[in-house]
Amino acid sequence: MRQSLSKGDITYTTAASSSSSADDKYILKPIPSGHGRVTKLAIALSLLTVASLIVRESWNFQEVTRNSVGKFGSGSFKEGQEYFRLLDTDHMDNYIEDGEDALRETAERVKDACEYTHEQYEKEPKPVAKTKALVTGGAGFIGSRLVKELLRVGYDVVVLDNMSTGKESFLAKKATLVRGDCRDYETVFKTIEEHEPFVVFHLAAQSKVLPSLKKGVDFVQFSIEQNVLATENVLKAIVQTRHASSDSGDGSANAKYVDRKNQPSGLHHPQHHKARKSFKGVQKFVYAGSSTFYGNNLRNLPFQENSKYNVLQHKTASTSPYATTKAMGETIVKLYSESYHVPTIILRLFMVFGPNEPSEGLDGVVTGKFLKQFKANEDLKIEGSGNHFRDFVHVDDVARAFVLAAQSSIEQNGHVFNVGSGKLKTINEIAELVQPDEKKRTHVAKRKNDLIGTLASTCEAKKQLGFVAKLDIEDWVLSQKV
Ligand SMILES: NC(=O)c1ccc[n+]([C@@H]2O[C@H](COP(=O)([O-])OP(=O)(O)OC[C@H]3O[C@@H](n4cnc5c(N)ncnc54)[C@H](O)[C@@H]3O)[C@@H](O)[C@H]2O)c1
Repeated sequence: MRQSLSKGDITYTTAASSSSSADDKYILKPIPSGHGRVTKLAIALSLLTVASLIVRESWNFQEVTRNSVGKFGSGSFKEGQEYFRLLDTDHMDNYIEDGEDALRETAERVKDACEYTHEQYEKEPKPVAKTKALVTGGAGFIGSRLVKELLRVGYDVVVLDNMSTGKESFLAKKATLVRGDCRDYETVFKTIEEHEPFVVFHLAAQSKVLPSLKKGVDFVQFSIEQNVLATENVLKAIVQTRHASSDSGDGSANAKYVDRKNQPSGLHHPQHHKARKSFKGVQKFVYAGSSTFYGNNLRNLPFQENSKYNVLQHKTASTSPYATTKAMGETIVKLYSESYHVPTIILRLFMVFGPNEPSEGLDGVVTGKFLKQFKANEDLKIEGSGNHFRDFVHVDDVARAFVLAAQSSIEQNGHVFNVGSGKLKTINEIAELVQPDEKKRTHVAKRKNDLIGTLASTCEAKKQLGFVAKLDIEDWVLSQKV
């Protein structure tokens, strides 16, 4: 005899008879009696395991939500978990429509534990004398401000840029510009060989999310070439231009002499290598990573560097070819640190704003676009509801973070640091700052796959690099309106 028990959409069936059928997997068999102590012990152990799992999950969950959604601190765990499942869906597009209130609340309540400036951690870059720095992508929005900061601190700066989005007008006169493409290994090799930099900052990239979303499937390959293969070229050239004094030829930092004729296969190097003995090789490599690494996942806000929710793991859907390929770039950086002993640091930049920010087209950033529309006396066009939020960080703070990273004595083994302000603003808040007149703010179709929210955990960068973001987005926006 069979009895049906309904639980939600699933129908469970209890079987009184022992006959088996194809439906057996759905059958909840009654626990046979008379199995004595062993069965009771097994049941007790199972209950204990289930209970401990529940407690552990509850702890994890409370850890996750501790700083984020205040109401769950006092509210029921079940309520909180369901709420967060909503945010954790793989289909965030639906979530936007479903969960505007949830999104607003998250933006209001989520906090970076190190949000407030810890003056005890704050450091300034140390002045240097004639240390050579190479900045790939140094004519771009962030790169050009990094170049300025490096020159201020005392570095000699060489820029390698193909000028695809960079502009010569951004570039400080004292910097040496090499026009060339990081996708071309020989160009990168020659640049390093000729200029012998102590530190390389790698910013050259397909640098924005939107072009990588709008330009179709061929853009995936382009993004891989730009963000993965070009990164690998720079790292490989660092290994190949090393001077060392053993003939191990393994490209390791400890090798004393690199016999370039006997390099491992696949490590191509140009024939014209000069092998100057005075050059000890590039000693530091700093990679411009991206907060898009954390994907569209509010579960672990504020984003911590070691988050398991990221676009390289199944827990989080990638939002764009940009996000995936920038994250792949990180993986290559780590490979070169671990296998070829290149001293590396990865900085995950959040939403950068400030002088020279792009203000139009697919590269345009929201602050630049809004200010442009405001100055042209046009309505501000807010994509979607405007409840999305970002951790905005000033480009000159970012530039300082790069220099602090290069000067830091922490282990340079692919160590990752967030570079954000630890404060968030919704897009609506930015729009209101730019255009206080509500009638001149309009909403247009939301952007597909747009990131819902980002917020950096700033603790690591503060404690280990001495990096504290100092410049405020409100000041920047207001200064641009006059
Ligand atoms: N802007 C942001 O908010 C942000 C956020 C996270 C990460 N990043 C990263 O920071 C870096 C700089 O971004 P940005 O906003 O200054 O972008 P950008 O486009 O202004 O700068 C990129 C620079 O690299 C150059 N370039 C591009 N491809 C090149 C190649 N193959 N060889 C040589 N030069 C090349 C461009 O001409 C440009 O000068 C990028 O790696 C980007 O992914 C930026």
